[in-house]
Amino acid sequence: MNKFSRIGFILAAAGSAVGLGNIWRFPYITGEYGGGAFILVYLLAILFIGLTVFLAEAVIGQNGQSDVSTSFVSISKTKNQNWKFAGFMVATGLIILSFYSVVLGWILDYVITSFSDLPTEAKVAGANFEKLISDDIGSLIVYHTLIAGSVILIVLKGIKEGIEKINLILMPLLGLILIGLLVYALTLDSFSQAVSFMFTPDFSKIDGHALLAALGQAFFTLSLGVGTILTYSASLPKEANFVKSSFMVAIVDTSIALVAGLIIFSFLFAAGAESAAGPGLVFISLPVIFSGWGILGQIIAVSFFVALVFAGITSAVSMIEPSLRFFIERFKITRAKATLLCGGTFYVLGIVALLSMSKSFGAELTFFGKNAFDIMDFMSSSVMMPIAAMLICIFLGFFVEKEVLKEKFTKHTSETIFNIWYFLIRFVVPIAIIILFLNKLGAI
Ligand code: TRP
Repeated sequence: MNKFSRIGFILAAAGSAVGLGNIWRFPYITGEYGGGAFILVYLLAILFIGLTVFLAEAVIGQNGQSDVSTSFVSISKTKNQNWKFAGFMVATGLIILSFYSVVLGWILDYVITSFSDLPTEAKVAGANFEKLISDDIGSLIVYHTLIAGSVILIVLKGIKEGIEKINLILMPLLGLILIGLLVYALTLDSFSQAVSFMFTPDFSKIDGHALLAALGQAFFTLSLGVGTILTYSASLPKEANFVKSSFMVAIVDTSIALVAGLIIFSFLFAAGAESAAGPGLVFISLPVIFSGWGILGQIIAVSFFVALVFAGITSAVSMIEPSLRFFIERFKITRAKATLLCGGTFYVLGIVALLSMSKSFGAELTFFGKNAFDIMDFMSSSVMMPIAAMLICIFLGFFVEKEVLKEKFTKHTSETIFNIWYFLIRFVVPIAIIILFLNKLGAI
């Protein structure tokens, strides 16, 4: 059978969760929201909101042992076929993957240029980055093709031989690189400054925006609302302990985000750089710092960007898998055909995304004042993901037999944990999502 081993599942789900969200996004939003207090709120969001939805996807998936649509119908009280429309969420993964692959392409460029010339000034670094994304269409297409090609080749081989295997290789390598970078960061005087920045909460810096950013990050980093965790859990053997596995994944994901933060802030503070540099933090601030460290800096730069590529590839494969499984199960087509169809779709969308940021084609690919790249980002992360996450909560909270869920949870954990989870999924998480959603739409 094409199923994960238990450790294979944990690695693959952790591989999905750990991505650009941990190493690029988490540090820069932590920087923007001032450190300690934001992290504390983020940890609470992971524990009470993120993990709750993660467990929800896991229980639906493990019970259904099939694609998102089929699994929704099979666990529902009434077996009403209309639950199959929940399958819309698999499209979100393809949309995210389109621009995620483009961003991974930028990082490939950084791997290559780190070997030769790192910029010595922030102005030059900024200009290089700008030139890459707006001018260098040829290279970007090559990079996107390389990334998309790798993702397609991996998923073509299936769960066990493709996804489990790549995670078995890349996740330990990622861990090793991060440990190496952490050890280096420990030798810097600025390490203690990074620790106090990250772990001394200053609540004056926390406002509604920070709370919502923490909540949004918790969803994004755990790969929720796309059917990824659901689909991976469908390949988890039926008797495996999904509760423990889910906690493990959340712990790995959170630890890696914290380690990435410690590394990056130590580096930034060592150079006296800004912690609130925003999205350019990794692409503009870090290269300049690395360049000041000579040959060692180059080695660190290459390792760092390779780590980002590894983390990103294992997330990327998890974005396409839900739609593959959907087409394989619902339309009875082969994995090869499904891969061609879904791979082709995200590849083309990725080309549109990258062209939309270029000087030459940007204007044609801008609609309602947003370029295609931003539209895909907005539609997926701000509209479709929250809607799907909401649907998952309401569905489990009100359209699935409580006893069925209770039985599944209490096989592996206490009734108290189940009761807390059940309360969170019915009332707390849906309210949190509504607030997040309205905020993303600009209504509050
Ligand atoms: N969790 C991944 C990260 O932190 C990216 C991601 C976001 C993702 N949403 C997803 C992965 C949905 C798979 C499915 O970078």
